[in-house]
Amino acid sequence: MRRRHLPGVLRIENRSYPRPWSLGIFLSEISLGESRQYFVATLGSKVIGYCGMMVILDEGHITNIAVDGSYLTRGVAKRLLLNAFDVAVGLSIKDMTLEVRASNQIAQRLYFKFGFEPVGIRKNYYAESNEDALIMWCYDISSSENCQRREKISSELGEADLVATVQDSTVSTSEARPPLGKEQPLQGSLEDAVQTQGGDVDE
Ligand SMILES: CC(C)(COP(=O)(O)OP(=O)(O)OC[C@H]1O[C@@H](n2cnc3c(N)ncnc32)[C@H](O)[C@@H]1OP(=O)(O)O)[C@@H](O)C(=O)NCCC(=O)NCCS
Repeated sequence: MRRRHLPGVLRIENRSYPRPWSLGIFLSEISLGESRQYFVATLGSKVIGYCGMMVILDEGHITNIAVDGSYLTRGVAKRLLLNAFDVAVGLSIKDMTLEVRASNQIAQRLYFKFGFEPVGIRKNYYAESNEDALIMWCYDISSSENCQRREKISSELGEADLVATVQDSTVSTSEARPPLGKEQPLQGSLEDAVQTQGGDVDE
């Protein structure tokens, strides 16, 4: 995620969350170097989704993930999470966690697919709606079971009828590992390449 993506990110953020993050929060997050990893999915120059991850020692915390309403159920979120997991493995992260609204069954289904399991509740975490958060963890993200899960998700995306090139960019620091550079088919009927791009505040 770069500065130039933020108008598109905020457009999606404002439509996706009752208490959206401000421009200032995103700017602050993407300026924090390797402890924050933010990715965007783009279609041409249009931002159609994004995902953030906070890195604390060997834990990755998914901070947010959202997809443009016009591009839902086409595998964009799966692609973003696959990318986040790839980066997490590259950063030697062992376990991943997140909070999700107890009522958000759609997001929970997505997370279950990646091996996240519910481990607890944060009461009234979402104060504006008096709603509890489900705390989910995916332990040992590099286990063969979890790797197989992600390979399955990736191959299912691969069975879609349209093939597009996906290029994962580098993570947020200049000394980051090289681009992942893999090619994956894109689910759905998008007619352009979807790119997931790592965080960098420079542009
Ligand atoms: C949750 C969200 C990111 C999913 O994005 P998406 O690109 O539509 O998701 P994908 O197409 O990659 O689907 C991934 C999985 O999510 C689940 N899912 C997605 N949309 C669904 C729907 N309408 N109904 C049921 N399950 C759904 C499914 O398990 C799906 O896998 P499957 O297609 O193999 O069944 C999107 O709905 C969104 O932006 N929601 C608003 C923001 C939000 O709630 N974010 C999560 C905060 S914790």
